[in-house]
Amino acid sequence: SNAAEFPTEIGQAGELHQTPPDGGQVLTTQQGVPVADDQNTLRVGPRGPALLEDFHFREKIFHFDHERIPERVVHARGYGAHGVFTLKESLADVTTARVLTEVGEETPMFVRFSTVAGNKGSFDLARDVRGFAAKFYTKEGNWDLVGNNIPVFFIQDAIKFPDLVHAAKPAPDREFPQAQTAHDNFWDFISLTPESMHMIMWVMSDRALPRGFRFMEGFGVHTFRLINAEGRSTFVKFHFKPRLGLQSVMWNEAMKINGADPDYHRRDLWDAIDLGNPPEWDLGVQLFDDAFAEQFEFDVLDPTKIIPEEQIPVRVIGSFVLNGRVDNFFAETEQVAFCTQNVVPGIGFSNDPLLQGRNFSYLDTQLKRLGGPNFTHIPINAPRCPVHNFQQDGHMAMRNPSGRANYEPNTWGGPRESPTAGYKPFAEQVAGDKTQRRPESFGDHYSQARQFFISQAPIEQKHIGDALVFELSKCERADIRQRMVAHLLNIDEALAKAVASGLGLKALPQPAPAGRPTRLDLPP
Ligand code: HEM
Repeated sequence: SNAAEFPTEIGQAGELHQTPPDGGQVLTTQQGVPVADDQNTLRVGPRGPALLEDFHFREKIFHFDHERIPERVVHARGYGAHGVFTLKESLADVTTARVLTEVGEETPMFVRFSTVAGNKGSFDLARDVRGFAAKFYTKEGNWDLVGNNIPVFFIQDAIKFPDLVHAAKPAPDREFPQAQTAHDNFWDFISLTPESMHMIMWVMSDRALPRGFRFMEGFGVHTFRLINAEGRSTFVKFHFKPRLGLQSVMWNEAMKINGADPDYHRRDLWDAIDLGNPPEWDLGVQLFDDAFAEQFEFDVLDPTKIIPEEQIPVRVIGSFVLNGRVDNFFAETEQVAFCTQNVVPGIGFSNDPLLQGRNFSYLDTQLKRLGGPNFTHIPINAPRCPVHNFQQDGHMAMRNPSGRANYEPNTWGGPRESPTAGYKPFAEQVAGDKTQRRPESFGDHYSQARQFFISQAPIEQKHIGDALVFELSKCERADIRQRMVAHLLNIDEALAKAVASGLGLKALPQPAPAGRPTRLDLPP
């Protein structure tokens, strides 16, 4: 409760004393010692030097000094809410995961929305991808679906992620722009990374300027696996579809909103829940088997590609509502730790090289961000099912093994493995030479970019062209602009010409060489 609520009385010489009302809480130190004076430090005489002995002062300042933790290396600015997922259609034929088989069962959730590039204090309506990370507190452990509002990604291999993020964040020498409008480093990297072209079409589209979190789709992006009781695997892509429909703002609206209310998206979500208007999403799946994967014209392991809904329709199997605001932003939204590796029995990974890298990255970064190995003890990260193991100690251990034994096998008792209920990965057959070669099947970087562009309404196509002109006109280096137009020529000629003319290019460049699976040669 808030100390400021207490009635105050003025004491001698202008000192302010606060008196808790009858039965009210007394202000204490972290050690529980009641505090008599929170307004004045202990000193030698009213005008004398401070005394080291003032443990309340030192504790209060020390704690304040340590309030900040590192912001997330990406997705630093985010906003979360609690919710409930309800399954409407069982997937028992393809998975043992209880969260996807028990119709009518309610699973508590926490969702965090975010921008990617901006720092924690940046504004909400940047042109950017939005994170859409969901934690399902299932009866079989926590399942995290760490998705985005765009179904594809910039890169095909996690080893490129530090480069992508370095190029997108402020440049190391000048530390600007913060605005996430175009800048040379980002477009330099993108123009040398043809696999990003499909994603670039989405990021230049209205999708990157959502009207609010409530109006966004969400995607698990990668192909995952579902595993059934016989150990058979079915591939799956996860989709969140907003009941309010997909809505965006215009670029000039975004600019005005950013100036007038940088907290526009978080306020919108808070108010919607506060006013009893909680947003809802449907959870859908695209299910397909090896036979489909083999004949599909792109590789289902390539995260820069979608599987068109015309080929595999999205089947809605349940829905969730975000109806609970957080009690404390830091404790919940800031300390929540999502990880693609958090799956439950019946859900597994594909060999998508971006997903495999993410499985390492999240836990690694959270060890640093949350100060050690016990961040699963923080209530927002703790499972809501029984947790028993022999892991112990470390910073901030809240949940150590109890009793005599902290090892197994043992004859004292305690938790044991369960061959029936325990997590089992899909028994995929794998063989091959060690290689760093990217598969040829990842090599087409333009077809789906083109399909996305031509699927847009004329006004949406115009917005994409306008966005490219605006962003690239912020590029000081003409060769970078030129290289981008060379890529656009492989996507849509009219778009490329409109952008070239908007940028004042005198002549069109040659189209970029198509069909290089791994990289464009650096320009001379
Ligand atoms: C954070 C999504 C690719 C590393 C996040 C968050 C989301 C997300 C939603 C914010 C989580 C939160 O709200 O706390 C995605 C998607 C990707 C992708 C959809 C591609 C499909 C990658 C890759 C890497 C990576 C390839 C690294 C190899 C990180 C890291 C964080 C993060 C280190 C910060 C996590 C934390 O501090 O808790 N990502 N990401 N991401 N992502 Fe990704």
